[in-house]
Amino acid sequence: MSLVSGRDLLAAAGAGGRAVGAFNFSNLEFLQAIVAAADARQTPAFLATSESAIEYAGLESIVAMTRATAETTKVPLCLHLDHGKDLALIRRCVEAGYTSVMIDASSLPFEENLRQTRAVVQMAHAAGVSVEAELGRLVGREDGVVVAEREALFVDPAEAARFVAETGIDSLAPAIGTAHGAFKFKGEPKLDFDRLGKVREATGGLPLVLHGASSVPQNLLDKCERYGLDVKGARGVPEPDLVRAIAMGVSKVNVDTDLRLAFAAEVRHVFSEQPKDFDPRHYLGRARDAVRELVEQKMELFGLAK
Ligand code: G3H
Ligand code: 13P
Ligand code: ZN
Repeated sequence: MSLVSGRDLLAAAGAGGRAVGAFNFSNLEFLQAIVAAADARQTPAFLATSESAIEYAGLESIVAMTRATAETTKVPLCLHLDHGKDLALIRRCVEAGYTSVMIDASSLPFEENLRQTRAVVQMAHAAGVSVEAELGRLVGREDGVVVAEREALFVDPAEAARFVAETGIDSLAPAIGTAHGAFKFKGEPKLDFDRLGKVREATGGLPLVLHGASSVPQNLLDKCERYGLDVKGARGVPEPDLVRAIAMGVSKVNVDTDLRLAFAAEVRHVFSEQPKDFDPRHYLGRARDAVRELVEQKMELFGLAK
């Protein structure tokens, strides 16, 4: 079917306890894997592209292949711009057919974040496109920030209330301790659930989004290691923490890193097993299957899979 707006997908998650997965892609195989999983489990999904994914694959190609792939299923899907920072690119996405955009001005001072977000909401809503924004900063182990400094970068619930009221956004991504990538925590993983609860209360039931939600599961790390991918020290968000966050009002969960690990590990697996095979449809096809399987598992964990 045709792509639907992010707002419609978030409504599908309902009042609580279930979340829609947002899965990143920058090539045909990841896109096909996510859509095949959505179709197999009759589960809606955000098809997310970062600015660098757009730079890699090309905006028009992404829109064309996403529309064509979405037409192969009756499950509602949404084409989403992830972490849009360039206002001109956000506008191009809206004009080209994206059905959801994220304005990420979270690294700017609060007032400037508010101003830019409000402008994007006006422009995107006029075209029926929904808007996600971010408050607080996502910093991980790789950013070399110590714990106290890190917490100072988390979302402020009072600011969140004002931000939501004054921007008209459709969903909010609050920084509560996750980070992007495979190396999220130095010691034990720790999310600020208390803060999440306060943000939930302060924002009156607005859908919340959890970024940096890959769990970097041990079985995937074992497979990576078996086939020579060096991911020593990788650590993600434990699955029970994701379930807890969803129960507390997170209704969109963003996953990229786990998909990349699954894809890379399977490509390496095929190469190591079949040294004479250089047909990309064989190694990319098997890697695509691995991503589809993982996306289905995520959909089940997030509570919407049939
Ligand atoms: O938000 C981060 C996503 O994992 C996208 O990362 O800019 O490498 O495509 P990327
Ligand atoms: P991960 O790096 O944990 O997969 O997070 C992805 C994300 O937040 C995309 O916006
Ligand atoms: Zn993110």
